[in-house]
Amino acid sequence: MKVLVTYSSKTGNTKKLAEGIFAGIEVEEKVIMPMSEVTNIDEFDTVLVGYWVDKAAPNAEAAKFMESLSGKKVGIFATLAFWPDSDHAWQSLCNGEAIVKENNTVIGKYICQGKLDEKIIAMFEKMPADNPHAVTEEKRKRYEISKNHPTSADVVAAAELFKEKLMVYSGC
Ligand SMILES: Cc1cc2nc3c(=O)[nH]c(=O)nc-3n(C[C@H](O)[C@H](O)[C@H](O)COP(=O)(O)O)c2cc1C
Repeated sequence: MKVLVTYSSKTGNTKKLAEGIFAGIEVEEKVIMPMSEVTNIDEFDTVLVGYWVDKAAPNAEAAKFMESLSGKKVGIFATLAFWPDSDHAWQSLCNGEAIVKENNTVIGKYICQGKLDEKIIAMFEKMPADNPHAVTEEKRKRYEISKNHPTSADVVAAAELFKEKLMVYSGC
């Protein structure tokens, strides 16, 4: 069994999560690379794929990559700016799962917070109060908290989940 950990990451959150998962999974043959560098998917029977959430779904590069997967065991991980225990987070993960589940076997999924780009926060700060993206005190506090994410606890939890799933579902 050969495992590929691959990810799409604009500001580094999902990359950090991917690297922690890669370090934590106990398999003999494993490879990590950004999905833009994946050329021969045939050599892997298990793919752990990571994306950042864009409007409650995988970002475009990741969605395209996930659509191309077939006949694999697939683990899905993602980062988003909102709370990880929200309906929005779960939906964002299930929307990724929906892309792969017809043609693959989904072995697990994980989502956690990832800090929102400072440039986007600055843009939101300029929005009028009636705009849904306008910054409130609650949001300001959440943005501050999310600056620490993914935390080492997030990364350890993701790595543990996939290590255990691989032990059961991929014969490692
Ligand atoms: C265009 C855009 C759309 C986003 N949409 C969402 C969203 O729908 N929900 C959410 O919680 N976060 C959203 N985010 C925040 C990112 O998903 C989050 O900050 C993520 O951790 C970024 O990961 P990266 O550092 O790997 O690029 C969005 C960010 C951008 C730039």
